[in-house]
Amino acid sequence: MDVTSTGSADLVIVANRLPVDRFEQPDGTPGWRRSPGGLVSALEPVLRASDGAWIGWPGGTEEDLEPFEADGMDLVPVHLSADEVEEFYEGFSNATLWPLYHDVVAKPEFHREWWESYVRVNQRFAEKAAAVAAKDATVWVHDYQLQLVPQMLRDLRPDLRIGFYLHIPFPPTELFQQLPWRRQVLEGLLGADLIGFQLAGGAQNFIRLVRQRVGHKTHRDLVYLPDGRTVRAAAFPISIDAADFEKLARSEGVEQRAKEIREALGNPKKVFLGIDRLDYTKGIYARLRAYSELLADGHFDVEDAVFVQVATPSRERVEQYRILRDEIDRLVGRINGDLGKIGSPAISYMHSSFPREEMAALYRAADIMVVTPFRDGMNLVAKEYIACRFDGQGALVLSEFAGAANELRQAWLINPYDINGMKAALLDAYNASPRELARRMKAMRKTVVEHDVKAWADSFLEELSSVRRDHGKTVRPVSQG
Ligand code: G6P
Repeated sequence: MDVTSTGSADLVIVANRLPVDRFEQPDGTPGWRRSPGGLVSALEPVLRASDGAWIGWPGGTEEDLEPFEADGMDLVPVHLSADEVEEFYEGFSNATLWPLYHDVVAKPEFHREWWESYVRVNQRFAEKAAAVAAKDATVWVHDYQLQLVPQMLRDLRPDLRIGFYLHIPFPPTELFQQLPWRRQVLEGLLGADLIGFQLAGGAQNFIRLVRQRVGHKTHRDLVYLPDGRTVRAAAFPISIDAADFEKLARSEGVEQRAKEIREALGNPKKVFLGIDRLDYTKGIYARLRAYSELLADGHFDVEDAVFVQVATPSRERVEQYRILRDEIDRLVGRINGDLGKIGSPAISYMHSSFPREEMAALYRAADIMVVTPFRDGMNLVAKEYIACRFDGQGALVLSEFAGAANELRQAWLINPYDINGMKAALLDAYNASPRELARRMKAMRKTVVEHDVKAWADSFLEELSSVRRDHGKTVRPVSQG
Protein backbone atom coordinates (compact mmCIF):
# COMPACT_ATOMS: atom_id res chain seq x y z
CA MET A 1 0.00 0.00 0.00
CA ASP A 2 1.16 3.50 -0.71
CA VAL A 3 0.38 5.51 2.39
CA THR A 4 1.17 8.79 0.69
CA SER A 5 -2.13 8.43 -1.14
CA THR A 6 -4.22 8.74 2.00
CA GLY A 7 -7.31 6.90 2.99
CA SER A 8 -6.59 3.33 1.91
CA ALA A 9 -5.60 1.48 5.09
CA ASP A 10 -8.18 -1.01 6.37
CA LEU A 11 -6.43 -1.40 9.69
CA VAL A 12 -4.58 1.44 11.36
CA ILE A 13 -2.50 1.05 14.50
CA VAL A 14 -1.93 4.28 16.43
CA ALA A 15 0.71 4.12 19.16
CA ASN A 16 3.06 6.67 20.67
CA ARG A 17 6.04 4.87 19.20
CA LEU A 18 6.61 3.41 15.75
CA PRO A 19 7.53 -0.29 15.88
CA VAL A 20 11.04 0.37 14.52
CA ASP A 21 14.33 1.68 15.89
CA ARG A 22 16.67 3.89 13.93
CA PHE A 23 20.23 2.70 13.31
CA GLU A 24 23.14 3.82 11.20
CA GLN A 25 23.76 1.77 8.06
CA PRO A 26 27.32 0.95 6.92
CA ASP A 27 27.18 3.81 4.39
CA GLY A 28 26.31 6.26 7.17
CA THR A 29 22.66 6.78 6.19
CA PRO A 30 19.93 6.05 8.73
CA GLY A 31 18.09 2.74 8.48
CA TRP A 32 15.24 1.21 10.49
CA ARG A 33 14.96 -2.15 12.14
CA ARG A 34 11.98 -3.69 13.84
CA SER A 35 11.92 -3.03 17.56
CA PRO A 36 11.85 -6.08 19.82
CA GLY A 37 8.32 -5.60 21.27
CA GLY A 38 5.72 -8.34 21.15
CA LEU A 39 3.05 -5.94 19.94
CA VAL A 40 4.72 -5.69 16.53
CA SER A 41 5.10 -9.42 16.09
CA ALA A 42 1.43 -9.92 16.99
CA LEU A 43 0.15 -7.24 14.68
CA GLU A 44 2.52 -7.61 11.76
CA PRO A 45 0.64 -10.53 10.15
CA VAL A 46 -2.70 -8.74 10.60
CA LEU A 47 -1.24 -5.53 9.18
CA ARG A 48 0.16 -7.31 6.13
CA ALA A 49 -3.08 -9.21 5.52
CA SER A 50 -5.30 -6.17 5.79
CA ASP A 51 -3.50 -3.38 4.02
CA GLY A 52 -2.55 -1.78 7.30
CA ALA A 53 -0.54 1.18 8.51
CA TRP A 54 1.12 2.12 11.80
CA ILE A 55 1.13 5.71 13.03
CA GLY A 56 3.66 6.72 15.69
CA TRP A 57 6.49 8.92 16.89
CA PRO A 58 9.86 7.84 15.49
CA GLY A 59 11.70 9.21 18.57
CA GLY A 60 13.80 12.38 18.46
CA THR A 61 12.76 15.80 17.24
CA GLU A 62 14.88 16.61 14.23
CA GLU A 63 13.19 15.69 11.00
CA ASP A 64 9.66 15.80 9.76
CA LEU A 65 9.79 12.36 8.12
CA GLU A 66 7.54 11.30 5.26
CA PRO A 67 5.65 8.00 5.52
CA PHE A 68 7.96 5.09 4.71
CA GLU A 69 8.03 1.33 4.51
CA ALA A 70 10.18 -0.78 6.80
CA ASP A 71 10.21 -4.52 7.27
CA GLY A 72 7.15 -4.79 5.04
CA MET A 73 5.07 -2.40 7.17
CA ASP A 74 3.71 1.00 6.16
CA LEU A 75 4.78 3.49 8.77
CA VAL A 76 3.46 7.00 9.23
CA PRO A 77 5.66 9.15 11.50
CA VAL A 78 4.21 11.84 13.74
CA HIS A 79 6.63 14.66 14.44
CA LEU A 80 7.15 16.05 17.95
CA SER A 81 8.97 19.32 18.59
CA ALA A 82 11.49 19.63 21.42
CA ASP A 83 8.86 21.43 23.52
CA GLU A 84 6.35 18.67 22.85
CA VAL A 85 8.82 15.97 23.87
CA GLU A 86 9.24 17.86 27.13
CA GLU A 87 5.58 18.67 27.77
CA PHE A 88 3.59 15.90 26.10
CA TYR A 89 5.97 12.93 26.42
CA GLU A 90 8.21 13.55 29.43
CA GLY A 91 5.69 15.79 31.16
CA PHE A 92 2.03 14.83 30.89
CA SER A 93 2.54 11.23 29.74
CA ASN A 94 5.41 10.26 32.02
CA ALA A 95 5.35 12.64 34.99
CA THR A 96 1.55 13.02 35.30
CA LEU A 97 -0.27 9.97 33.93
CA TRP A 98 2.41 7.32 34.48
CA PRO A 99 2.74 7.82 38.26
CA LEU A 100 -1.01 8.53 38.67
CA TYR A 101 -1.96 5.28 36.94
CA HIS A 102 0.65 3.31 38.92
CA ASP A 103 -0.87 3.87 42.36
CA VAL A 104 0.94 7.22 42.78
CA VAL A 105 4.15 5.32 43.58
CA ALA A 106 5.76 8.69 42.75
CA LYS A 107 3.92 11.99 43.11
CA PRO A 108 2.19 13.01 39.86
CA GLU A 109 2.77 16.57 38.71
CA PHE A 110 -0.13 18.56 37.30
CA HIS A 111 0.75 21.40 34.93
CA ARG A 112 -1.69 23.15 32.64
CA GLU A 113 0.89 23.67 29.84
CA TRP A 114 1.61 19.94 29.83
CA TRP A 115 -2.09 19.20 29.44
CA GLU A 116 -2.37 21.68 26.55
CA SER A 117 0.52 19.99 24.81
CA TYR A 118 -1.12 16.57 25.39
CA VAL A 119 -4.31 17.83 23.72
CA ARG A 120 -2.38 19.25 20.75
CA VAL A 121 -0.31 16.12 20.16
CA ASN A 122 -3.32 13.83 20.52
CA GLN A 123 -5.11 15.95 17.91
CA ARG A 124 -2.15 15.52 15.55
CA PHE A 125 -2.25 11.73 15.93
CA ALA A 126 -6.02 11.75 15.34
CA GLU A 127 -5.64 13.82 12.18
CA LYS A 128 -3.01 11.46 10.78
CA ALA A 129 -5.21 8.47 11.51
CA ALA A 130 -8.21 10.17 9.90
CA ALA A 131 -6.15 10.82 6.77
CA VAL A 132 -4.74 7.31 6.45
CA ALA A 133 -7.80 5.17 7.24
CA ALA A 134 -10.00 3.84 4.45
CA LYS A 135 -13.78 4.17 4.64
CA ASP A 136 -15.20 2.00 7.47
CA ALA A 137 -11.70 0.95 8.46
CA THR A 138 -10.69 -0.29 11.90
CA VAL A 139 -8.38 1.91 13.97
CA TRP A 140 -6.69 0.54 17.06
CA VAL A 141 -5.28 3.20 19.41
CA HIS A 142 -2.75 2.22 22.10
CA ASP A 143 -1.87 3.33 25.58
CA TYR A 144 -1.97 6.22 28.02
CA GLN A 145 -0.16 8.73 25.81
CA LEU A 146 -3.12 8.81 23.39
CA GLN A 147 -6.31 8.67 25.45
CA LEU A 148 -7.95 11.61 23.68
CA VAL A 149 -7.44 10.18 20.20
CA PRO A 150 -10.58 7.96 20.09
CA GLN A 151 -13.06 10.85 20.45
CA MET A 152 -11.00 13.27 18.34
CA LEU A 153 -10.88 10.66 15.60
CA ARG A 154 -14.59 9.90 15.86
CA ASP A 155 -15.35 13.60 15.40
CA LEU A 156 -13.29 13.57 12.21
CA ARG A 157 -14.36 10.16 10.93
CA PRO A 158 -17.64 8.79 12.37
CA ASP A 159 -17.54 5.89 9.91
CA LEU A 160 -14.56 4.21 11.61
CA ARG A 161 -14.58 1.34 14.06
CA ILE A 162 -12.30 2.46 16.87
CA GLY A 163 -10.63 0.33 19.53
CA PHE A 164 -8.46 1.50 22.41
CA TYR A 165 -6.13 -0.59 24.55
CA LEU A 166 -4.50 0.57 27.77
CA HIS A 167 -1.24 -1.28 28.39
CA ILE A 168 -0.76 0.08 31.91
CA PRO A 169 -3.06 -0.25 34.94
CA PHE A 170 -6.21 1.85 35.08
CA PRO A 171 -6.18 3.32 38.59
CA PRO A 172 -8.72 3.06 41.40
CA THR A 173 -11.40 5.72 41.09
CA GLU A 174 -10.15 7.63 44.18
CA LEU A 175 -6.76 8.18 42.56
CA PHE A 176 -8.06 8.95 39.08
CA GLN A 177 -10.19 11.74 40.55
CA GLN A 178 -7.03 13.72 41.35
CA LEU A 179 -6.58 14.46 37.66
CA PRO A 180 -7.79 18.01 36.93
CA TRP A 181 -8.75 16.86 33.40
CA ARG A 182 -10.42 13.61 34.48
CA ARG A 183 -13.64 14.25 32.60
CA GLN A 184 -11.88 15.11 29.34
CA VAL A 185 -9.83 11.90 29.53
CA LEU A 186 -12.92 9.76 30.13
CA GLU A 187 -14.73 11.46 27.26
CA GLY A 188 -11.70 10.98 25.03
CA LEU A 189 -11.68 7.24 25.69
CA LEU A 190 -15.45 6.98 25.15
CA GLY A 191 -14.88 7.79 21.49
CA ALA A 192 -13.87 4.13 21.12
CA ASP A 193 -16.31 1.27 20.48
CA LEU A 194 -14.23 -1.10 22.58
CA ILE A 195 -11.82 -0.19 25.40
CA GLY A 196 -9.45 -2.93 26.48
CA PHE A 197 -7.70 -3.18 29.86
CA GLN A 198 -5.17 -5.64 31.25
CA LEU A 199 -7.43 -6.70 34.11
CA ALA A 200 -11.15 -6.81 34.84
CA GLY A 201 -10.57 -4.46 37.80
CA GLY A 202 -9.35 -1.69 35.47
CA ALA A 203 -12.43 -2.03 33.26
CA GLN A 204 -14.66 -1.86 36.35
CA ASN A 205 -12.89 1.25 37.63
CA PHE A 206 -13.44 2.87 34.27
CA ILE A 207 -17.13 2.00 34.09
CA ARG A 208 -17.69 3.32 37.61
CA LEU A 209 -15.96 6.61 36.77
CA VAL A 210 -17.98 7.03 33.59
CA ARG A 211 -21.16 6.66 35.62
CA GLN A 212 -20.02 8.95 38.42
CA ARG A 213 -18.11 11.60 36.52
CA VAL A 214 -19.68 11.76 33.07
CA GLY A 215 -23.13 10.64 34.10
CA HIS A 216 -23.72 8.04 31.39
CA LYS A 217 -25.91 5.03 31.92
CA THR A 218 -23.92 1.80 32.31
CA HIS A 219 -24.78 -1.86 32.64
CA ARG A 220 -22.05 -4.39 33.51
CA ASP A 221 -19.29 -3.76 30.95
CA LEU A 222 -21.35 -1.50 28.69
CA VAL A 223 -21.80 2.25 28.51
CA TYR A 224 -24.91 3.58 26.79
CA LEU A 225 -24.24 6.98 25.26
CA PRO A 226 -27.06 9.47 24.71
CA ASP A 227 -26.31 9.49 20.96
CA GLY A 228 -27.27 5.80 20.76
CA ARG A 229 -23.75 4.40 20.66
CA THR A 230 -22.60 1.55 22.92
CA VAL A 231 -19.08 1.37 24.32
CA ARG A 232 -17.74 -1.84 25.82
CA ALA A 233 -14.96 -1.90 28.44
CA ALA A 234 -13.39 -5.29 29.11
CA ALA A 235 -10.20 -7.09 30.08
CA PHE A 236 -7.80 -8.49 27.47
CA PRO A 237 -4.59 -9.52 29.31
CA ILE A 238 -1.67 -9.04 26.94
CA SER A 239 1.00 -11.65 26.34
CA ILE A 240 4.17 -12.39 24.35
CA ASP A 241 5.15 -14.36 21.26
CA ALA A 242 5.87 -17.43 23.39
CA ALA A 243 6.81 -19.78 20.53
CA ASP A 244 9.30 -17.30 19.19
CA PHE A 245 10.97 -16.86 22.58
CA GLU A 246 11.13 -20.59 23.13
CA LYS A 247 12.70 -21.10 19.70
CA LEU A 248 15.32 -18.53 20.53
CA ALA A 249 16.00 -20.09 23.94
CA ARG A 250 16.42 -23.51 22.33
CA SER A 251 18.97 -22.27 19.79
CA GLU A 252 22.56 -23.42 20.12
CA GLY A 253 23.90 -19.88 20.22
CA VAL A 254 21.73 -19.00 23.20
CA GLU A 255 22.55 -22.23 25.04
CA GLN A 256 26.25 -21.57 24.56
CA ARG A 257 25.88 -17.97 25.70
CA ALA A 258 23.95 -19.04 28.81
CA LYS A 259 26.88 -21.30 29.77
CA GLU A 260 29.35 -18.47 29.18
CA ILE A 261 27.30 -16.16 31.40
CA ARG A 262 27.32 -18.66 34.28
CA GLU A 263 31.03 -19.18 33.87
CA ALA A 264 31.71 -15.46 33.82
CA LEU A 265 29.75 -15.22 37.06
CA GLY A 266 32.07 -17.81 38.63
CA ASN A 267 29.69 -20.78 38.28
CA PRO A 268 27.74 -20.07 41.47
CA LYS A 269 25.15 -22.56 42.74
CA LYS A 270 22.33 -20.15 42.02
CA VAL A 271 21.87 -17.13 39.78
CA PHE A 272 19.13 -14.61 40.63
CA LEU A 273 18.02 -12.29 37.83
CA GLY A 274 16.11 -9.01 37.50
CA ILE A 275 15.49 -7.35 34.12
CA ASP A 276 13.52 -4.11 34.11
CA ARG A 277 13.33 -0.70 32.56
CA LEU A 278 14.94 1.52 35.19
CA ASP A 279 11.58 2.68 36.54
CA TYR A 280 10.44 3.48 40.08
CA THR A 281 7.36 1.28 39.64
CA LYS A 282 9.52 -1.83 39.28
CA GLY A 283 10.60 -2.19 42.91
CA ILE A 284 14.29 -2.67 42.07
CA TYR A 285 15.53 -0.98 45.25
CA ALA A 286 13.38 -3.05 47.61
CA ARG A 287 14.28 -6.30 45.88
CA LEU A 288 18.04 -5.66 46.07
CA ARG A 289 17.72 -4.73 49.72
CA ALA A 290 15.84 -7.95 50.47
CA TYR A 291 18.49 -9.95 48.65
CA SER A 292 21.36 -8.23 50.46
CA GLU A 293 19.74 -8.99 53.82
CA LEU A 294 19.64 -12.69 52.96
CA LEU A 295 23.40 -12.53 52.38
CA ALA A 296 24.01 -10.47 55.51
CA ASP A 297 21.89 -12.90 57.56
CA GLY A 298 24.15 -15.73 56.35
CA HIS A 299 21.52 -17.79 54.46
CA PHE A 300 24.02 -18.14 51.63
CA ASP A 301 27.29 -16.59 50.59
CA VAL A 302 28.43 -14.48 47.63
CA GLU A 303 30.27 -17.58 46.39
CA ASP A 304 27.01 -19.54 46.41
CA ALA A 305 24.85 -17.01 44.63
CA VAL A 306 24.87 -13.79 42.64
CA PHE A 307 22.12 -11.34 41.72
CA VAL A 308 22.30 -10.15 38.12
CA GLN A 309 20.32 -6.93 37.71
CA VAL A 310 19.84 -5.45 34.26
CA ALA A 311 18.27 -1.98 34.30
CA THR A 312 17.41 -0.67 30.86
CA PRO A 313 17.86 3.10 30.52
CA SER A 314 14.48 4.81 30.27
CA ARG A 315 13.02 8.36 30.24
CA GLU A 316 16.36 9.65 31.43
CA ARG A 317 15.46 13.33 31.37
CA VAL A 318 12.53 12.92 33.75
CA GLU A 319 13.59 13.92 37.27
CA GLN A 320 12.16 10.92 39.13
CA TYR A 321 14.09 8.59 36.83
CA ARG A 322 17.35 10.47 37.46
CA ILE A 323 16.81 10.29 41.20
CA LEU A 324 16.12 6.57 40.98
CA ARG A 325 19.26 5.94 38.99
CA ASP A 326 21.40 7.62 41.64
CA GLU A 327 19.66 5.68 44.39
CA ILE A 328 20.24 2.33 42.71
CA ASP A 329 23.87 3.23 41.93
CA ARG A 330 24.45 4.04 45.58
CA LEU A 331 22.65 0.96 46.88
CA VAL A 332 24.51 -1.44 44.58
CA GLY A 333 27.81 0.22 45.51
CA ARG A 334 27.06 -0.11 49.20
CA ILE A 335 25.91 -3.74 49.01
CA ASN A 336 28.92 -4.78 46.95
CA GLY A 337 31.24 -2.78 49.21
CA ASP A 338 29.84 -4.40 52.34
CA LEU A 339 29.29 -7.95 51.17
CA GLY A 340 31.29 -8.62 48.00
CA LYS A 341 34.57 -10.49 47.81
CA ILE A 342 37.30 -10.36 45.17
CA GLY A 343 35.83 -11.89 42.02
CA SER A 344 32.44 -12.37 43.74
CA PRO A 345 30.29 -9.26 43.87
CA ALA A 346 26.91 -9.67 45.56
CA ILE A 347 25.20 -7.89 42.68
CA SER A 348 26.25 -7.79 39.06
CA TYR A 349 24.59 -4.60 37.84
CA MET A 350 24.25 -3.38 34.28
CA HIS A 351 22.62 -0.14 33.21
CA SER A 352 22.12 -1.05 29.55
CA SER A 353 19.75 -2.70 27.12
CA PHE A 354 20.44 -5.99 25.42
CA PRO A 355 19.22 -7.68 22.24
CA ARG A 356 16.66 -10.47 22.52
CA GLU A 357 19.30 -13.21 22.13
CA GLU A 358 21.18 -11.97 25.19
CA MET A 359 17.93 -11.67 27.15
CA ALA A 360 17.05 -15.28 26.27
CA ALA A 361 20.53 -16.40 27.36
CA LEU A 362 20.12 -14.55 30.67
CA TYR A 363 16.73 -16.19 31.21
CA ARG A 364 18.27 -19.60 30.57
CA ALA A 365 21.20 -18.88 32.86
CA ALA A 366 19.03 -17.72 35.76
CA ASP A 367 17.72 -20.06 38.46
CA ILE A 368 15.47 -17.48 40.09
CA MET A 369 13.77 -14.71 38.14
CA VAL A 370 12.79 -11.83 40.43
CA VAL A 371 9.95 -9.53 39.30
CA THR A 372 8.81 -7.23 42.11
CA PRO A 373 6.92 -4.17 40.80
CA PHE A 374 4.84 -2.04 43.17
CA ARG A 375 2.34 -1.84 40.32
CA ASP A 376 2.58 -3.12 36.74
CA GLY A 377 0.00 -3.44 33.96
CA MET A 378 1.14 -6.94 33.04
CA ASN A 379 4.96 -7.42 33.11
CA LEU A 380 6.07 -9.28 30.04
CA VAL A 381 9.52 -10.14 31.43
CA ALA A 382 7.82 -12.65 33.74
CA LYS A 383 6.13 -14.28 30.75
CA GLU A 384 9.31 -14.25 28.66
CA TYR A 385 11.16 -16.09 31.41
CA ILE A 386 8.47 -18.78 31.49
CA ALA A 387 8.54 -19.12 27.69
CA CYS A 388 12.32 -19.67 27.77
CA ARG A 389 12.23 -22.37 30.48
CA PHE A 390 11.34 -25.31 28.21
CA ASP A 391 13.56 -27.41 30.52
CA GLY A 392 10.88 -27.09 33.21
CA GLN A 393 13.36 -25.61 35.67
CA GLY A 394 13.77 -22.12 37.06
CA ALA A 395 11.74 -20.28 39.69
CA LEU A 396 9.68 -17.12 39.30
CA VAL A 397 9.28 -14.76 42.25
CA LEU A 398 6.49 -12.40 41.23
CA SER A 399 4.79 -9.39 42.74
CA GLU A 400 1.08 -9.83 43.33
CA PHE A 401 0.73 -6.24 42.03
CA ALA A 402 1.82 -7.17 38.50
CA GLY A 403 -1.03 -8.03 36.12
CA ALA A 404 0.83 -11.26 35.32
CA ALA A 405 0.16 -12.51 38.87
CA ASN A 406 -3.46 -13.03 37.84
CA GLU A 407 -2.44 -15.76 35.43
CA LEU A 408 0.86 -17.04 36.85
CA ARG A 409 -0.56 -18.36 40.11
CA GLN A 410 2.21 -20.95 40.55
CA ALA A 411 4.91 -18.32 40.92
CA TRP A 412 6.20 -17.43 44.39
CA LEU A 413 3.84 -14.49 44.83
CA ILE A 414 5.07 -11.66 47.03
CA ASN A 415 4.08 -8.24 48.31
CA PRO A 416 6.99 -5.94 47.37
CA TYR A 417 6.27 -3.67 50.34
CA ASP A 418 6.90 -6.59 52.70
CA ILE A 419 10.67 -7.05 52.84
CA ASN A 420 10.52 -10.05 55.18
CA GLY A 421 7.91 -11.75 53.00
CA MET A 422 10.05 -11.11 49.96
CA LYS A 423 13.12 -12.55 51.73
CA ALA A 424 11.19 -15.67 52.69
CA ALA A 425 10.02 -16.21 49.10
CA LEU A 426 13.51 -15.68 47.65
CA LEU A 427 14.91 -18.19 50.10
CA ASP A 428 12.15 -20.69 49.44
CA ALA A 429 12.76 -20.43 45.70
CA TYR A 430 16.51 -20.81 46.34
CA ASN A 431 15.94 -24.06 48.21
CA ALA A 432 13.15 -25.50 46.01
CA SER A 433 13.64 -29.05 44.71
CA PRO A 434 13.76 -29.72 40.97
CA ARG A 435 10.46 -31.55 41.36
CA GLU A 436 8.78 -28.57 42.93
CA LEU A 437 10.20 -26.25 40.27
CA ALA A 438 9.00 -28.54 37.47
CA ARG A 439 5.50 -28.74 38.94
CA ARG A 440 5.13 -24.97 39.08
CA MET A 441 6.83 -24.29 35.75
CA LYS A 442 4.67 -26.82 33.90
CA ALA A 443 1.46 -25.11 34.96
CA MET A 444 2.78 -21.63 34.15
CA ARG A 445 4.08 -22.69 30.75
CA LYS A 446 0.66 -24.01 29.81
CA THR A 447 -0.83 -20.58 30.50
CA VAL A 448 1.82 -18.63 28.60
CA VAL A 449 1.88 -20.93 25.58
CA GLU A 450 -1.90 -21.03 25.23
CA HIS A 451 -2.49 -17.33 25.74
CA ASP A 452 0.11 -15.79 23.49
CA VAL A 453 0.11 -12.33 21.97
CA LYS A 454 -1.47 -13.56 18.74
CA ALA A 455 -4.46 -14.88 20.70
CA TRP A 456 -4.62 -11.54 22.53
CA ALA A 457 -4.67 -9.45 19.34
CA ASP A 458 -7.14 -11.78 17.63
CA SER A 459 -9.56 -11.70 20.54
CA PHE A 460 -9.45 -7.91 20.80
CA LEU A 461 -9.96 -7.37 17.07
CA GLU A 462 -12.69 -9.98 16.90
CA GLU A 463 -14.53 -8.37 19.78
CA LEU A 464 -14.07 -4.94 18.20
CA SER A 465 -15.60 -6.11 14.95
CA SER A 466 -18.63 -7.50 16.75
CA VAL A 467 -19.44 -4.67 19.18
CA ARG A 468 -23.00 -3.56 18.49
CA ARG A 469 -22.72 0.09 17.72
CA ASP A 470 -26.26 1.23 18.41
CA HIS A 471 -28.04 0.15 21.56
CA GLY A 472 -31.42 1.34 20.26
CA LYS A 473 -32.41 2.62 23.71
CA THR A 474 -33.47 6.06 24.76
CA VAL A 475 -31.19 7.01 27.59
CA ARG A 476 -31.03 10.06 29.69
CA PRO A 477 -27.81 10.74 31.56
CA VAL A 478 -28.14 9.62 35.19
CA SER A 479 -26.42 12.63 36.69
CA GLN A 480 -23.75 15.13 35.88
CA GLY A 481 -20.54 14.54 37.84
C1 G6P B 1 5.52 0.90 28.82
C2 G6P B 1 4.36 1.61 28.12
C3 G6P B 1 4.62 1.80 26.64
C4 G6P B 1 5.99 2.43 26.43
C5 G6P B 1 7.08 1.59 27.11
C6 G6P B 1 8.49 2.20 26.96
O1 G6P B 1 5.54 -0.42 28.46
O2 G6P B 1 3.15 0.92 28.35
O3 G6P B 1 3.63 2.60 26.05
O4 G6P B 1 6.27 2.58 25.06
O5 G6P B 1 6.76 1.50 28.48
O6 G6P B 1 8.52 3.50 27.42
P1 G6P B 1 8.90 4.73 26.47
O7 G6P B 1 8.62 5.94 27.29
O8 G6P B 1 10.37 4.56 26.18
O9 G6P B 1 8.09 4.64 25.22
